[in-house]
Amino acid sequence: RLRIGLLTGGGDCPGMNAVIRAVTKSLILQANAEVIGFEDGYEGLIEGRFRTLEFQDVSGILTRGGTILGTSNRANPFRYYRRGEADVSAEVIALYRELELDGIVAIGGDGTMTIAHGLSERGLRFIGVPKTIDNDIWGTERTFGFDTAVHIATEAIDRLHTTAQSHHRVMICETMGRYAGWIALYAGVAAGADVILIPELPFDVEVVAEVCRERESDGHRFTIIVVAEGARPEGGTFHVRERVPESPDPIRLGGIGYELERQLRDRLRSEVRTTVLGHVQRGGTPTAYDRSLASAFGAYAAALVQAEQYGCMVALRDGRLTTVPLAEVAGRTRTVPLDHPMLGAALAVGTSLGVRAL
Ligand code: F6P
Repeated sequence: RLRIGLLTGGGDCPGMNAVIRAVTKSLILQANAEVIGFEDGYEGLIEGRFRTLEFQDVSGILTRGGTILGTSNRANPFRYYRRGEADVSAEVIALYRELELDGIVAIGGDGTMTIAHGLSERGLRFIGVPKTIDNDIWGTERTFGFDTAVHIATEAIDRLHTTAQSHHRVMICETMGRYAGWIALYAGVAAGADVILIPELPFDVEVVAEVCRERESDGHRFTIIVVAEGARPEGGTFHVRERVPESPDPIRLGGIGYELERQLRDRLRSEVRTTVLGHVQRGGTPTAYDRSLASAFGAYAAALVQAEQYGCMVALRDGRLTTVPLAEVAGRTRTVPLDHPMLGAALAVGTSLGVRAL
């Protein structure tokens, strides 16, 4: 009987449960497979924490955010934080052999894919499913979770308009996205932001201040600025959340929104306020698009298992499901290219990207 492992790694993301459901149901229905769910991502694979997923275990989870399997973003078998950064990959390989797994479906972001590739090179069989609200995985034009994050951010920016207009303020909204500006760009365009700042285009704070002043003199009296957490001023440093391996909580907090607020306060008479959306963007039920994309990714991964096509990640290219080798995905990310049509759309409606020229 076919026996397949399943794990979710990295930050939680709307649609993870939809993938778990699709992989499990299709493998049970089509191949009478046994699906073993590892708990808390690679941590469960290292520590031997797992359970069999039956059909009824994945019923009713399609609409639920997060992951029923749990996740972790620190458990790397090649540098395991719980055991002094030791390489414990041999134990993982031993457990994989002991369980007589035919392969593992790993749902995760670039970190998860890089580890899957590393273990594939040691002889294990992996299929990756690209997950992240950041939409920054190499080789696929979409990840599930992104659409939900954009919806949440757009609604938040719409609501910030209320205070901006009533109080004649400059309102800054900081989105997530790590070193990519996808969420800020799409939500900024969808919500009609006046300024969108993304990591791919280091901004000039003087340009941002000028936009606020010009809007005030034109009689608009408020400005909406959407800033990606990874955005930075020209010559400035990133504020994005970073991993600090030696610290007990290995996160260095972001906060470019507050930094920008400080810089604008020195330059403007208007009141300036900042809202950091944070993990709200990852929470709650996935949108219909993310549910269907995640289901399609999961069903495709199950088909790849049955075709014994391993060492690859499911991807969306030109609107079609396909695969990309894990070797190509590992260690890479996908940021917003400067000729992306959405940047053109922003500029076309008069949105500033915080730079004098693109
Ligand atoms: O990758 C998803 C993401 O939400 C990023 O947008 C953000 O920088 C990071 O995860 C936050 O990580 P954590 O949940 O560990 O603070």
